[in-house]
Amino acid sequence: MTNNIPKSIDETLTLLRGQGYICDRRLGTLTFLSLSLDRPIFLEGEAGVGKTELAKTLAAALGRDLIRLQCYEGLDASTAVYEWNFAKQMLAMRGDDARDIYTDEFLIKRPLLQALEPHANGAPILLIDEIDRTDAPFEAFLLEALSDYQVSVPEIGTIKAPEPPIVILTSNRTREVHDALKRRCLYHWVDYPDFERELEILQSRVPEAKAQLSGEIVAFVQRLRGEDLFKKPGLAETLDWAKCLVALDVVALSPDVIADTIGAVLKYQDDIAKLHGSEVGRILETVRADLREAG
Ligand SMILES: Nc1ncnc2c1ncn2[C@@H]1O[C@H](COP(=O)(O)OP(=O)(O)OP(=O)(O)O)[C@@H](O)[C@H]1O
Ligand SMILES: [Mg+2]
Repeated sequence: MTNNIPKSIDETLTLLRGQGYICDRRLGTLTFLSLSLDRPIFLEGEAGVGKTELAKTLAAALGRDLIRLQCYEGLDASTAVYEWNFAKQMLAMRGDDARDIYTDEFLIKRPLLQALEPHANGAPILLIDEIDRTDAPFEAFLLEALSDYQVSVPEIGTIKAPEPPIVILTSNRTREVHDALKRRCLYHWVDYPDFERELEILQSRVPEAKAQLSGEIVAFVQRLRGEDLFKKPGLAETLDWAKCLVALDVVALSPDVIADTIGAVLKYQDDIAKLHGSEVGRILETVRADLREAG
């Protein structure tokens, strides 16, 4: 058994930071507790704020396998756990010797089953991504699977994890997830980062962006989030925009540059239309004032 989990909140924060994931102390505390107490983490928040990334980062930092169950409408328990390889079973039945076709050889293991199997490098990270896209019956099934970390395959028997996987659930909150499932978990609302943290993340993820430009990008996106938009830009958009501006050799924002590249930040025509001309100039002025004040 690998046991390289961090022994304190600070150690957890350092571990995540080492992989370029910069979070606040509350999320660091929650992650530490989740690892220490074997409790699933439930992350809810807007798009592009680092929910999925936490699972990827933890897997990389702890050297564990990452198993991702991407949820979608209509996902059912059997698809999430296993399927029989029907084609292979048919072929085997055509052979002359009678064989048992309900064995490991014919089993297609889906994410949940994979997560409950033994892994050489310790319990894996199980990312159950965008759970709000599934329905109540699937949640009920998950609740059961996560309460004793076992699932049953009728033809084979019960498969129980030798060591509970590290479970991270995410939701974009397109609907509320059932209380019973949340109760199993430690909950965290992932908010947009403040200016300082967003700048730090940008500098760690897109180091080729110069200091002045980085500051302007972050201040501008932060201001945009305060506007009345249908879809506010997340961290993913900040990073994308920075990469676009670097590719264009931009050293400072201007209304023209912003107009030409706004498609990296805003993805709805109504939002883009709202922001035309004078609005961009106005926001850019407040951004410059913000930055002067920040020194
Ligand atoms: N705290 C952070 N430190 C460093 N990078 C981050 C952090 N949070 C997010 N990122 C970066 O922002 C991008 C978006 O993050 P991620 O994909 O995890 O968002 P999400 O919350 O899962 O969004 P969605 O709801 O759209 O799936 C990623 O490229 C990731 O590298
Ligand atoms: Mg995600």
